[in-house]
Amino acid sequence: MINKESPIPMYYQIQEHIRENIKQKKWLMGEAIPSERILTEQFGVSRMTIRQAVQGLVDEGILMRKRGSGTYVSNEKVQQPLKEITSFTKLMEQRGMKASSNITVFSIRKPNEVEAEQLEINMSEDVYHIERIRLGDQIPIAIETSIVPCKLAEGLTNEDIQNSLYEFIEVKKGQALGEAKQSIEAIGASKRVAELLDLDIDSPILQIERVAILKTGSPFEYVRSQYAGSRFKFYL
Ligand code: GLP
Repeated sequence: MINKESPIPMYYQIQEHIRENIKQKKWLMGEAIPSERILTEQFGVSRMTIRQAVQGLVDEGILMRKRGSGTYVSNEKVQQPLKEITSFTKLMEQRGMKASSNITVFSIRKPNEVEAEQLEINMSEDVYHIERIRLGDQIPIAIETSIVPCKLAEGLTNEDIQNSLYEFIEVKKGQALGEAKQSIEAIGASKRVAELLDLDIDSPILQIERVAILKTGSPFEYVRSQYAGSRFKFYL
């Protein structure tokens, strides 16, 4: 199952297998994974390669170690690496969860001054205004309000944003995602946010503002995400 001739490093191939096992629920959240010895035999690679693969997934928060008792599939909060642009859908998939969205706003309008500046567009150009409640296995995790220049996402449909905005940009528009600039702050849930995320008013919310940029250098999304602090954490 590991292709030793492949240019893809073996530890990476193993990580992909592990992710797949979690996704298909062969390895369940909160349960111990097989020992290093068993994995070494199963994948036919050295113990060092297994360690490297497992450590990488521990660093990503997908697996976790418990002192003296082994390695487990993490059942902690969903985690998001801060330095990369990761779509919500992919993030959930990596955790073996099914992403879905409730669309609360989908319209075309003109940007305000801040949006135009962040997206490096003219205030006379159209933008999509998208607000979605993002759920993982039906549990509301975040509210995301994305402002996207229409010229970069022409033809975007309800169905596209019901699924994955980033998949639309990457697959349908053939644009590679570059990097993101972001800022984070902690706030208390307002009445509306609490209702939408099924939390108590004033529960901790992680609010992130970011501008996501295409490989071409064009900013394509100015987004404000409000994550339920009790269900989500970020790592660097
Ligand atoms: C993450 C980002 C958002 C982005 C979303 C796209 O959650 N923080 O800025 O809009 O991913 O996710 P999807 O491709 O599932 O629509």
